[in-house]
Amino acid sequence: MDLITQHALIERIEHHRAAGRGTDTAPSVMHVPVSDYTDVERFARERQVIATAPAVVGLSGLVPTPRSFATVMVGDQPVVVTRDDDGSVHAMLNVCRHRGAEVAQGCGSAARLTCPYHGWVYGLDGAGMSRRRGEHFDGELVGLTRLPVLERDGIIWTCGDPDGTLPDQPLHGAERELGPLGLDRLRWFGTRTFTRPINWKLAVDTFCEAYHLTTLHRTTLAPLIHDDFALFDDFGPHGRMIATRRSIAELDDMAPDDRRLLPHATVLWFVVPNTVLIHQQDHIQLYQSRPGSSPDEAHLDVSLYVPTDDGHDDHYWRKNFDLLVDVTDAEDFTTAAGIQRGAHTRAQEHVVFGRNEPALQHFHRSIDRLLA
Ligand code: FES
Ligand SMILES: [Fe+2]
Repeated sequence: MDLITQHALIERIEHHRAAGRGTDTAPSVMHVPVSDYTDVERFARERQVIATAPAVVGLSGLVPTPRSFATVMVGDQPVVVTRDDDGSVHAMLNVCRHRGAEVAQGCGSAARLTCPYHGWVYGLDGAGMSRRRGEHFDGELVGLTRLPVLERDGIIWTCGDPDGTLPDQPLHGAERELGPLGLDRLRWFGTRTFTRPINWKLAVDTFCEAYHLTTLHRTTLAPLIHDDFALFDDFGPHGRMIATRRSIAELDDMAPDDRRLLPHATVLWFVVPNTVLIHQQDHIQLYQSRPGSSPDEAHLDVSLYVPTDDGHDDHYWRKNFDLLVDVTDAEDFTTAAGIQRGAHTRAQEHVVFGRNEPALQHFHRSIDRLLA
C-alpha cells in the first residue's frame, strides 16, 4: 500500500474520529434469508462455484524454491502445487493416473513426484515419467491432470476446473495495494485445518465487521482494536476492510507526512468466494473456508506467512499462530455454531446486516452475483 493511499485512509479515519462514533457505512440495512445458510440446493450451487472460480492456493512462500511442492484442497478437490527447476509454478489434481491414489502428501522438496501406491512417477510439471513394470500396461503414460495456474504479486491462484481459465488480474485492482507489500518474500509458517458445524459463509462473515469487537472479544481483541470503527472499500467482487488499532492515536502527535497507517491497522481482504487475507503489520494470516458435506459443515484452513529475517524464532510465531486460531475458534466459530443451530429454527426468516456492516453486505451480494 503506497503512502498516498495510506494518507488518504488516515484522513478518512480522522474524519470518523472527529465525528465521535463514526465508521464507514452502507446506504441501507440488508436482509438476508436465513435459508442462505441452510438450503441444500443453494449449497450445491455454492460448492459448484467454489470448485470452479479462481481460487487463492496460497502465497508464493508455499512453494518457496525450485523443487518444492505442497498439497492443498481447492474446494473439495485434492491439488498438488509445485515449483519446477525453472521456478515456474504448476497445479495438478493430486490423483494418480493408475488407480487414483494421492501422489503427493504434505509438503516438501522433491525432484519428481512418486505415487506411494505402486510407484508411478511424474515430473514437477505433472508429466508422466515412468510406470513400474510398464509391460503390463498399454498406451502412453499420461500425466497428472493440470489445472490453470497463475502466480502474481506473491499470490498463487488456480481453479478446480481443468478446462477453466484464470483472469489476468484476479484481484480486480487490489493488486495495486497488495503488490507493493512484497508478499512473495514471506515464509509459509504452517497451516491448520479443522472442521466446524457451521455454514462455510459464517466463517467469512465473522471477519466482515468490527462491530462485535467489544462484545464477543471483550478481553482478547478489544483492548487492541477499536470496536465498530472500520473503513470499507470494494474491489470488484472483493473487498477490503481496515480495522484500526487503538495505537492509531499515536498519529495525533506526528507531522502529516510522517504518518503511516499500516502499523496501526489490521487490513482484511475478502477475496471471493472463500478467502480472507489478513495483513497484520508484518505477517499475513490466510483463512479459507471450504463447504463441507452439508450446509452445516465447513472445513477451515488457516495459514500463517511470516517475514524471513525478522529476528523472531519459530517459538514466537507458533505462540502467535496458536493464540490467533484459538481466539477465533473459541469466540467466533463457537458463536457461528450457535447461529447455525438457530438457522434451523423458525425464529426468523431473515437476518439483518446493519449499515455499519458494509463488508458483510458486499460479501453476500458478491456471492449472490456469482451464483446468478
Ligand atoms: S495408484 Fe498410483 S501407482 Fe498405483
Ligand atoms: Fe471476531
